[in-house]
Amino acid sequence: MIKVVILGSGNVGRHLFKAFKNNSEIEITQWYSRNIKDIHPYSNFVEITDQLDKLVLADIYILAVSDDSIHDLSNQLSFSNRFVCHTSGSKSKNELNQKNRAGVFYPLQTFTKEIEVDFSKIPICLESSNSEDMITLKKISKTLGCSYYETDSNQREKLHLAAVFVNNFTNHMYTIAKDITDKSKIDFNILKPLISETVNKIYKLDPKEAQTGPAIRGDNKTINKHLASLENEKHKELYKLITDLINDLDHEKL
Ligand SMILES: NC(=O)c1ccc[n+]([C@@H]2O[C@H](COP(=O)([O-])OP(=O)(O)OC[C@H]3O[C@@H](n4cnc5c(N)ncnc54)[C@H](OP(=O)(O)O)[C@@H]3O)[C@@H](O)[C@H]2O)c1
Repeated sequence: MIKVVILGSGNVGRHLFKAFKNNSEIEITQWYSRNIKDIHPYSNFVEITDQLDKLVLADIYILAVSDDSIHDLSNQLSFSNRFVCHTSGSKSKNELNQKNRAGVFYPLQTFTKEIEVDFSKIPICLESSNSEDMITLKKISKTLGCSYYETDSNQREKLHLAAVFVNNFTNHMYTIAKDITDKSKIDFNILKPLISETVNKIYKLDPKEAQTGPAIRGDNKTINKHLASLENEKHKELYKLITDLINDLDHEKL
């Protein structure tokens, strides 16, 4: 049985709690939140606290807190030589105070409190300072049914950068598209099969090979019509920039 203390009650903290709670190989010995009201509804299932000096002994302490608070929170831990991890894609392992054994348990997925996730489909990027702690991280990943990868802080930072493009920026494209359809009184749902197919294609093709549309075809009249139709100046700039980038790709092929 692996004894875990979760720190943080945001998106990731809550999803970790749910995933660990029903796992027979993991015991959540405590859940810390600076805002105890947030986790009070779970007090029948787990010991809760908002006091850092009351943290109990565990095999691993998982800091699922905002990137900017990882360093300070790890400084505030009153114990030393225990195994403390964060869950961030962009922060180095060394962000954690070195009085404890530092590690990373970064689930490469997007988490929102209200949206269920299937942990067994999430790849986890792992990092530790020694092989014994890596065994603990692997055991946790395995028992959740996750695939896992040993990545160093530089690789994880690059992965996080790539993730911003595939997730955050792509999602913002949906926001722009919805703004366009809303303004023309068109139901955004009509675009959903196209969104699904765009995603499905990258399971079969390299993204470069999957590219279609006016930019790759060099349909300049259509491109100019789109530009004229965009009202927002930043959206025009974005359209031009991405069209240029797609064009550059086409020239790279020659
Ligand atoms: N969400 C994702 O999709 C995702 C995916 C992979 C990894 N991550 C990583 O997971 C970590 C948590 O992300 P999240 O989305 O769960 O964030 P979140 O929903 O904003 O939750 C952050 C948590 O940190 C707590 N916190 C902030 N500052 C604190 C401090 N100084 N002391 C103690 N607690 C503090 C917050 O408490 P209050 O509620 O009181 O403010 C909250 O419980 C981040 O490192 C993030 O990069 C996130």
